[in-house]
Amino acid sequence: QIPPSVAAVADYEPLARERMSAPAWAWLQGGAADEITLRENRAAFERLRLAPRVLAELAGGHTRLTLLGQALDHPLLVAPMASHGLAHPDGELATVLAAAAMRTPVVVSTQAGTPLETLAQAAGDAAPPVPLWFQLYLQPDRGFTRALVQRAEAAGYRALVLTVDAPVSGARNTEQRAGFVPPPGLGAVNLQGARPLPPHTARPGQPPLFGSPLLDAAPTWRDIAWLREQTVLPIVLKGVLAPADAVRAADEGLAGVIVSNHGGRVLDTVPATLDALPAIAQAVQGRLPLLLDGGVRRGTDVFKALALGASAVLVGRPVLHGLAAAGAPGVAHVLHLLRTELEMAMALCGCRTLADIDASRLWRG
Ligand code: FNR
Repeated sequence: QIPPSVAAVADYEPLARERMSAPAWAWLQGGAADEITLRENRAAFERLRLAPRVLAELAGGHTRLTLLGQALDHPLLVAPMASHGLAHPDGELATVLAAAAMRTPVVVSTQAGTPLETLAQAAGDAAPPVPLWFQLYLQPDRGFTRALVQRAEAAGYRALVLTVDAPVSGARNTEQRAGFVPPPGLGAVNLQGARPLPPHTARPGQPPLFGSPLLDAAPTWRDIAWLREQTVLPIVLKGVLAPADAVRAADEGLAGVIVSNHGGRVLDTVPATLDALPAIAQAVQGRLPLLLDGGVRRGTDVFKALALGASAVLVGRPVLHGLAAAGAPGVAHVLHLLRTELEMAMALCGCRTLADIDASRLWRG
């Protein structure tokens, strides 16, 4: 049930918190270390002002776009997140069904708590079907990685999102303090049978990071060429903040880049994604589409990201807030709110289509 007092995406946050245990909430909501980047992702959106335009021709307006050759109704996707079951017993299945109803692609996490095939089946039942993308963490066992990619292809996933900003996990102090441990039974089912990653939390007596098997197995640009040979799917690189890395992604023939700092969860004090975006857009010169995530909570945020060069955005935590608070209807409502607010912002800034959203719609004092 969606409480009538929910008027905006942020209203789901306190409702979700009430329904989740303190450790699970710390896992969902927390960022790395002092959470400076986590806050900065929001602050960057809040700093920008819009430049409205009046009396523009809006008849026939829409939010459609083509991304990686896929026709989408609007520039929103659900960001990959592990273990939706920590937010709600219906887990990823509810998220995928709700997103399909809202015509929103979901990027399914490698660490999802539901088999990737089950989710593909659910999304495929939507008419017309809504694309699912598969988020990949390269596993130290490349044979296992290849098999995982083949499963995603066979199940009908339409793109691979390779997350590269977390070869080691960050200082997850908030989780640590709350005593978060992944509950048994919510494991990463897609990784069953994989050689586990060695643990690497900095604790007295454990070896330091360098020299550990973890860093020795960390992916490099060489693995990108390898991955391209394994799949016909377009590959999108997730977790880029440096223009040079985005240019390299284009040089390597990748299909897109997600400007992301992992929702402020890995390395603290890196910049807000919105602040990193303009230089990346400038450097890649439209050679590949840019997506952005981190702190998107309003339709005006989507609008601002597009104005600075993104083709689409991904939404993370708010989806799990909606899920925790109200199950699948909560997820659908979150996506509906964002889409409605985006259309409001477009209409009031005189933008008939996404192509009209550019830097001229941002206020330069
Ligand atoms: C994530 N994120 C993430 N990214 C990824 O590539 N694979 C994953 O398994 C996860 N897991 C995950 C769990 C949780 C609880 C969160 C909050 C995030 C990062 C995610 O895809 C995205 O980059 C950020 O969440 C975007 O920021 P917002 O929208 O949460 O502010």
